[in-house]
This record gives sequence, C-alpha cells and structure tokens, in this order.
Amino acid sequence: MDRIELIATAAFGLEAVVSRELAQLGYNEQTVEDGRVAFMGDALAICRTNLWLRSAERILVKVGAFPARDFGELFDNSVALPWDRYLPVDAKFPVSGKSVRSMITAVPSVQGVTKKSIAESLKRTHQRYWFQENGPEFPIEVSLLRDTATMSIDTTGDGLHKRGYREFAGPAPLKETLAAALVQLSYWHPERTLWDPFCGSGTIPIEAALIGRNRAPGIARNFLSETWPWIPREVWKQARDEARDLEKPGLQAQIQATDINGKAITMAKKAARDAGVPGDINFREMDVLELKTSREYGVIICNPPYGERMGDHESAEAIYDDMHDAFEPLKTWSIYVLTSHPGFERCFRRRDDRRRKLYNGRIECTYHQFHGPRPPGGFVFEDDERPIVGQPPAVQCEPDTEPPALS
Ligand SMILES: C[S@@+](CC[C@H](N)C(=O)[O-])C[C@H]1O[C@@H](n2cnc3c(N)ncnc32)[C@H](O)[C@@H]1O
Repeated sequence: MDRIELIATAAFGLEAVVSRELAQLGYNEQTVEDGRVAFMGDALAICRTNLWLRSAERILVKVGAFPARDFGELFDNSVALPWDRYLPVDAKFPVSGKSVRSMITAVPSVQGVTKKSIAESLKRTHQRYWFQENGPEFPIEVSLLRDTATMSIDTTGDGLHKRGYREFAGPAPLKETLAAALVQLSYWHPERTLWDPFCGSGTIPIEAALIGRNRAPGIARNFLSETWPWIPREVWKQARDEARDLEKPGLQAQIQATDINGKAITMAKKAARDAGVPGDINFREMDVLELKTSREYGVIICNPPYGERMGDHESAEAIYDDMHDAFEPLKTWSIYVLTSHPGFERCFRRRDDRRRKLYNGRIECTYHQFHGPRPPGGFVFEDDERPIVGQPPAVQCEPDTEPPALS
C-alpha cells in the first residue's frame, strides 16, 4: 500500500499533544485542525499509531474530501472516490455522518446517499449488482463542514481510550486519553516522583506508568483494521514486535497513587495489574491532608472533585483548601490540577504559572500548572519543549525537524 492520508482524531484541546506524539513516531507531515491531526503514512503507520498514540481517540483513513452543497454533488463526488482501493467486494460498510454549518443538514439522508454512492462505485469496479456485506467491517464516516464533505474509514473500532485494563471505574473517572495528555503536558520524567493524591480508579498513575515503561497503550487490545485484507498480518506483527521490544522493565521511582476511598484503591490496583504495571505504582488509602514526603522535585498530577452537582461546591472548596495545606511544604515540587471549578485558585491560595483549557467529556476544565524549580543537573526543557517520554524511535524522521511546539 502506498502512502495514504490518515487522520488522528482527538478531543478538543488535545490536538497539539497528538501532533507531538505523531512527530515523535516520525510522522512529521501533518496538518492540525480542530479535533484532528491529518498526517501521511502507510499500512504500517495505521498499526503503529493505533498501538502507540496515547491521547488520540481514533485513526481514520481519509478517502477524499470534496464540495457537497446538495445531494447531487454529494453523490457524484463520492462515486468518483477510489472506494475499491480500500473496500473488498464483501466489505460491510455502515455509514455514520455529521453536518456542521452546511447547506445539507439532514444527516440520515447524508448517510443514505453516501451508502448508495459507495455501492454504485463498487458496482462499477467489481461489475456486480449486489453486495452481501458479510466480510470485514469498514465503518465509513461522512463529515460535512461548511459544505465540504470528508469521507473516511475508521481503522480503530473501540475508541483508543479503551486500553483494555479498566473493567470497573470510580464515580468520575478520567478518560485514559486525557489522563495520558495530562502527564505529557507536565514536566514529569520517569526518574522524578509522581503523586496523584486523588487517584480514584488510577487512570493518571497507570497512564504515567505506561509512559515511563515505554509500554504501547494499545498492546493488549485488538483493532478493527486487523481484519482488513490489505493490511497483511505480517505488518501488524512487525508493529507489535517493535512495541514489545521497546518496553522497559520497570520504573526507577515508584509512582504514588492515593485516595480517601478504599474501594477505589482496590479497583485501581486491579486496573494496574491488568495494564501490566502493578509493581510501578504504590497504591494507598489516604486523605490528601496526610500527604507527607521528604522527596524533592516531585510532580503532583491530579483531578480532585469539581463540585459540579448542587451542594457539592462547598465540599470541593474545602478539599482545595486542604490541598493548599498539604502541598505548601513541597517547595521543589511541580503541581498540576485539572478542575472545572472557577474558584480553584482562590481556595488553593496560589496563582497558576500557566493554564490550558481542556474538556473532561463535556465539562470545560482548566489545567492549572504550578511550576516548581528545575531539578539540579536534571531535566532541563525549554518552556514549550516538554518531553514526551518513552516514545518509540521515529520512522521516516526528517533530519533537523523539531516537533511542533505546543501552543
Ligand atoms: C474526580 S475523582 C478522580 C478520578 C480519577 N482521576 C480517575 O480517573 O478515576 C476525585 C477523587 O478524589 C477522591 N477524594 C475526595 N476527597 C478526598 C480527600 N480529602 N483526600 C483524598 N482523596 C479524596 C475521591 O474519592 C475521588 O476518587
């Protein structure tokens, strides 16, 4: 398979993180847009990005994009796309769609017309009149934005946040993709202590351990495109072998994961076992007020309760007040807090050094960043060049190409 245009989709606010992860994998030819990063790759790139991307939601093959101001234009332009390049004669191809700021608004009709156009295109190339659709699945997405239709095929299946390690979760778990982004947006390095004092089901510590161990987040799961005939098994095997070879045996500094809720700790321990990182995290039932350590230059990354529901506001504020008291002695530590509470800084009694708007599901949050001093002789990074630790070696890397800076 020649080079094809691929798209990594991401939650709003995480595009720059995904872009940097792609660059670390060697995919530098990119276009970053809202909610997606387009990049060039081949069949191996589909396997590698599905296995390795930590903050993306799914990987799509872009079949084409064209103007679609009415259904006639949608049909004619879609028929002309090279569908036979991707869909075998027995392909099952369900179509989903969306329309944003476009003249065509009836999404069910968009889906129906697209389905007919693909069937028509395949009829012409395969000289058939009927397709049983009893083969591998190729979910088609038609996305209309300002009268331009983009046609793509999902390679991932279950979203990339489904790593396969979390059977049960606490009441307000973070998505694994967001947790991985929080770690990657911090100055944490595997040789520094990381502590999540509100770990719940353990998502942040587990994602950090996966990063520190250089373990591909998708190594324990399957992907829809593993059933596709044009991605040979050998190519998947190559990508999985590479991932296994690159995994490191264990972290130098154990990650600390604590929470006041003992049941959450039990769940988190199981998830860490299922994720293959049980020995890298020290789980403990503990109130944040009990947080004491003589370690220096550690990093706290957490999402404490937000107090979103009525009546919870005050209890969240009391926790932020406790966080002030607990974190105050940690003069050399960096602290990262994700919350939607607008009064967080007031209650925490400290102004952040930097902030970033992120979405936890539909909840608009702020990722507050309080930078500690740089570790002596340690990891010195320019402000916009935070490292992505533990990525595999790049392929197709162009010399002298810097990863794009985060905005
Ligand atoms: C938003 S949840 C964190 C979810 C977690 N990031 C996950 O992915 O599952 C907030 C957590 O704070 C814990 N918590 C609330 N008050 C606490 C306190 N005073 N000390 C420590 N943990 C507390 C709750 O038990 C809950 O698990």
